[in-house]
Amino acid sequence: MKILVVGPGAMGCLFASRLQKAGYMVALLDYSKERAERINAQGIIVEDVTGEYNVKVPVLSGELSSPPDLVLICVKSYKTREAGQAIEPWVPPQTTILSLQNGVGNIEILQEIFGSERVLGGVTAEGATLLGTGKIRHAGQGETIIGPKKGFEGTVEKIIAAFNGAGFKTRSVNNVDDLIWGKLIINVGINALTAITRLKNGRLPYISGTRLILEEAVKEAVSVARAKNIQLPYADPVGRVLEVCEATAENIASMLQDVLKRKLTEIDFINGAIVREGKSLGIPTPVNFVLTSLVQAVQETYTQRIQEG
Ligand code: PAF
Repeated sequence: MKILVVGPGAMGCLFASRLQKAGYMVALLDYSKERAERINAQGIIVEDVTGEYNVKVPVLSGELSSPPDLVLICVKSYKTREAGQAIEPWVPPQTTILSLQNGVGNIEILQEIFGSERVLGGVTAEGATLLGTGKIRHAGQGETIIGPKKGFEGTVEKIIAAFNGAGFKTRSVNNVDDLIWGKLIINVGINALTAITRLKNGRLPYISGTRLILEEAVKEAVSVARAKNIQLPYADPVGRVLEVCEATAENIASMLQDVLKRKLTEIDFINGAIVREGKSLGIPTPVNFVLTSLVQAVQETYTQRIQEG
């Protein structure tokens, strides 16, 4: 199976390096020529419990010489449309597109570009952090779930075999939207709050203000999900988000990592998505509106920060 991984972030580097190491034909696509050259020269450097290793994965910034069977989209959500439109002209109709991105809206964007019969979605609980260009820490292993299975049986089986072969525990489901919303609600409760307060995940439940906001943001998101007939993969959403705070207590959530690097965040696809969906369904989402507006203000004003001290 030939796999094109789009985006050299933490997940892109993790999947590209592990699939290549397992013997699959992998290429990584990076729109930045300079960064592509650097990763080509040094390889992808992975730190994990076994130590540090280096995997040479060809990094391209243009068209692939032979068509891929699978394109794995690992760009930040705000780059999905741009990345999809850039590769669409040279990705043949038989190629499957899989998004494992955070947030909601990515699959819909990819379906608009490639057609719904070619796009799969999924969630992954693999924990990877970008340490520098082409360098990642693979801190924790978790399950990867893709779907829908129905209508994609053969393709899904091949992807599962490749991912399992590369050490990613993977299975398929039909109701992938329920899982994407399940993950979204965890990100709704954690990510924006960490980006605003600059706290690690584990602190949020223990400060009365952040705990209250976390709970209210999650409750609003659950009301929106219920109105959309989403069956969340857990019975107690607030309890689940608090559990994830504990399980990832030492994590710097991805949105806080973006803020610390003064980058654009995925706020519009996480809390912003709850506000948009809430508006179209007539469900008030004031807490998510405030969180979205504050993170938008933070990412628009990196150069205007008053320094501490
Ligand atoms: O976006 C993230 O950082 C992760 O999805 C999570 C679960 C919040 C852990 O840090």
